Amino acid sequence: MTVRVRKAVFPVAGLGTRFLPATKVVAKEMLPIVDRPLIQYAVDEAVEAGCDTLIFVTNRYKHAVADYFDKAYELEHKLETAGKGELLELVRNVVPAHVRTIFVTQPEALGLGHAVLCAQPVVGDEPFAVILPDDLIWNRNGRGALGQMVDHVAAHGGSAIAVENVSADKTGSYGIVDVEQFDHQVGRIRSIVEKPRPEEAPSTLAVVGRYVLEAQIFEHLHNTRPGAGGEIQLTDAIARLLQDSPVNAYKFSGTRFDCGSHLGFVEATIRFALDNEKLSDSAAAAMQKALDELAASAH
Ligand code: UTP
Repeated sequence: MTVRVRKAVFPVAGLGTRFLPATKVVAKEMLPIVDRPLIQYAVDEAVEAGCDTLIFVTNRYKHAVADYFDKAYELEHKLETAGKGELLELVRNVVPAHVRTIFVTQPEALGLGHAVLCAQPVVGDEPFAVILPDDLIWNRNGRGALGQMVDHVAAHGGSAIAVENVSADKTGSYGIVDVEQFDHQVGRIRSIVEKPRPEEAPSTLAVVGRYVLEAQIFEHLHNTRPGAGGEIQLTDAIARLLQDSPVNAYKFSGTRFDCGSHLGFVEATIRFALDNEKLSDSAAAAMQKALDELAASAH
């Protein structure tokens, strides 16, 4: 049986406290890396993976996310009459025509697990993807991280969670997995623990924001009580899921930028600027100039 993953859930109802004061009015997912908001990179990855139903879990402060995917009549009209065809295409094609967007509300920021549970009425009884847009994964010229995972699930079934190696002192910032028969790319997860101290971590394989989950996860989310940080954690529900169904850790090809942190956001900006056809030379020169000035002022 081939499993097809059609639906992708984007939990975007967090408070984004690490980016205050910017996120006081601008949703974190709308912050741009060069010219496109984080949410656009995530949507492109889901569409490339074959998803045609995008479910955004938002809250009352995040109208901008829904507005971004809505038709902008006045803007489109102005661009059209000004003959700005290229810009018009950009504005019109934030999602391709065959893809539909659905918005559900998380009334209170009770945690990532709770946000995913809010999507249950739309997801129903089929496997689905979860993408956290602040984990921006770049696989230049290759299949996106979610696409790689969807392919794996189509061939082998079960659930898949994206992982990458982190340094031992960073385990306290991630869900960490213990994996059996890890072949450097995939292995079945034996256990998963949220934000362990380095001395308690079962490995340094950290969960990052891409998941392909079987619908049984919802049952477990219903029964999950608040865990780390007082939030309903997706990790805790996955810990139960893996007791009755295979959940694989999947080490994707690509570079992940943690755009929920200041450093990761800056790194992504540098990388995408250097890779941008129109910008790369002048961006490299600007970076060099800044470094030279800094070095000169240190003397
Ligand atoms: P984070 O842990 O990054 O939290 O959430 P956050 O609120 O976005 O940011 P900080 O840590 O306060 O700066 C991981 C993902 O889960 C979503 C967030 O929007 C983000 O995509 N989330 C988190 C929800 O949708 N609802 C929640 O209740 C919590």
